[in-house]
Amino acid sequence: MRQGMPGGMYRHFTHDPEVVRHKVQRETVRRVLFYGRPFRTEIAIFLALTLLGAGLVIATPLLLQRIIDDGVTPGNRQVVILFGSLVAALAVVEAVLTVVNRWFSARIGEGLILELRREVFTHVLRQPIAFFTRAQTGSLVNRLNTDVIGAQQAFTSILAGLVSNVFAAALIIGALLTRSWQITLLALLLLPLFLLPARLMGDRLSALTRRQMGLNADLASRMTERFNVGGALLVRLFGRPEQEDAEYAERARGVRDSGVAIAVNRVVFMAGLGLVAALATALVYGLGGLMAVAGQLSVGALVAMAMLLGRLYGPLTALSNARVDVMTALVSFERIFEVLDLPPLVTEAEDPVDLPARPLGVELDGVSFAYPSAEEVSVASLEQRPFAEERDGVPVLHGVDLTVEPGQLVALVGPSGAGKTTLTGLVARLYDPTQGTVRVGGVDLRQARLSSVRDAVGVVTQEAHLFNDSIRANLAYARPDADEPAMWQALTDARIADLVADLPDGLDTVVGDRGHRLSGGEKQRLAIARLLLKSPRLVVLDEATAHLDSESEAAVQEALDRALKDRTALVIAHRLSTVRHADRIVVLDRGRVVQQGSHEELLARDGLYRTLYETQFRPEAERVTARG
Ligand SMILES: Nc1ncnc2c1ncn2[C@@H]1O[C@H](COP(=O)(O)OP(=O)(O)OP(=O)(O)O)[C@@H](O)[C@H]1O
Ligand SMILES: [Mg+2]
Repeated sequence: MRQGMPGGMYRHFTHDPEVVRHKVQRETVRRVLFYGRPFRTEIAIFLALTLLGAGLVIATPLLLQRIIDDGVTPGNRQVVILFGSLVAALAVVEAVLTVVNRWFSARIGEGLILELRREVFTHVLRQPIAFFTRAQTGSLVNRLNTDVIGAQQAFTSILAGLVSNVFAAALIIGALLTRSWQITLLALLLLPLFLLPARLMGDRLSALTRRQMGLNADLASRMTERFNVGGALLVRLFGRPEQEDAEYAERARGVRDSGVAIAVNRVVFMAGLGLVAALATALVYGLGGLMAVAGQLSVGALVAMAMLLGRLYGPLTALSNARVDVMTALVSFERIFEVLDLPPLVTEAEDPVDLPARPLGVELDGVSFAYPSAEEVSVASLEQRPFAEERDGVPVLHGVDLTVEPGQLVALVGPSGAGKTTLTGLVARLYDPTQGTVRVGGVDLRQARLSSVRDAVGVVTQEAHLFNDSIRANLAYARPDADEPAMWQALTDARIADLVADLPDGLDTVVGDRGHRLSGGEKQRLAIARLLLKSPRLVVLDEATAHLDSESEAAVQEALDRALKDRTALVIAHRLSTVRHADRIVVLDRGRVVQQGSHEELLARDGLYRTLYETQFRPEAERVTARG
């Protein structure tokens, strides 16, 4: 119950001195209090209990004084028994109080953590994709964990610490003064002797701790980057494991060195604390003993003062650092608010419209688009190094007009970086256009209900991401209520049922980190099965650029034919067969539509399509012919 035990006290000195210089907005404090509102009753009870506990700090020493002065010295048994029992009763009360108080503080603190965690998670998940291309996953997860816990401390340890320490210190000093002001004064003079060096050491410790935390974070992000299939593969293929070892070891050695320095500094601090307490005790018994001999102080008062002094240093040290503590917690809150204040770029309209239930067409009407700038999507403190910002706000699509009739297959072709993926992202409403309108089924996407867009539009990306979970779970992600026959039907249609059936665990086979346990073609087909299960009315497909062997290429092609049948489809085409099948081909170059037409029409004209055909599609055709 008492705050500022040596370990806790030490903690106060490890805080970053920079946070004190930081100016916290009044607004932040107001918002913090707002988060405490649901816990009003708990906080009130908790504070009352805390005050009661602080009062108990001086009760025992004062009772001991009565036992000695009124009981032992005059030889009064009854007084000894009475006050002895009281001390025992108080001990029981204090124990119960400790438990109850902790229960309340845990309920407040953990409740707050829950609230903040849910809010941050919900919010981050709804950020535009550009947010995730900027934010470091590590820092993001760190923010969810560390800052949320840091913020929670404001409500429990600091709230309790401040209140109970102020109250306890005042009571103790009062009790000491009424016994002997001379000894009290001397004892208080000892305090700065301890506090000043401790401050200096605190600065050193916090610098060391910060260094160690930086190195640790670095070690952790190195490991997360390399201990996954992709990273490990890169290390293996570029064959530099020795250099990796050396770099890792160097940082790990840094962690060791600062760890040793921190340990030494810490023990010096603790020893200093013990020394001051011992000196104070010596002072009380020495000076106070002399005063007792001279009859100026009773023996009971002497014992009480020694005990009270021992209980004073804790609260005082804690209070001398309260400012740093409060600021640290507020900074944690601020950093969470920073994330929560990012406006989601794509929001539900006020009066959202459902997309019509019939086959959907797509219209792009004078669509221009620029990726959101850093200020719009990122939190400065989450970015490891600022990106080159010259590209920010530069349009990547310029006045694109495009129509896909219901049931049509439109192929999108163009050089790398032309804006094909960007365009399909707008159709799935990952972003809103900067200018112009995207309509699906005649409805402006900005007016369409988000969930109805999600249901109607199915996207297969180039990478065909899978969660590291069972095939069943990955399929069910598209339609949680899908039963097993439906799953097998989708797998059959995607031409991957045989493979899944042959796996020892069948549908329960875990696909591995990012689906690495499957081949590229298998992953694509599984992604297509997932799409089929969802059965969207509009399919947006980014064909895999990776070359598949002829067999799985044929299988993927069949799966696609099945997936696109009777559906509107916008396909970024990398394969000749796709452009041949397309009702229309749209050629995109540097964010503009430069040509449109059928394969034959476009081929007959001199233009970008013919160049693309010569370099991209024809070699493929020849390869196929040569193989055949
Ligand atoms: N998240 C992003 N933030 C900023 N710029 C981006 C982002 N994603 C893509 N770009 C830029 O937008 C332009 C169009 O990119 P896009 O991915 O649409 O090209 P693409 O036609 O799909 O190319 P590829 O055939 O290589 O996949 C490129 O200049 C690219 O650098
Ligand atoms: Mg692309």
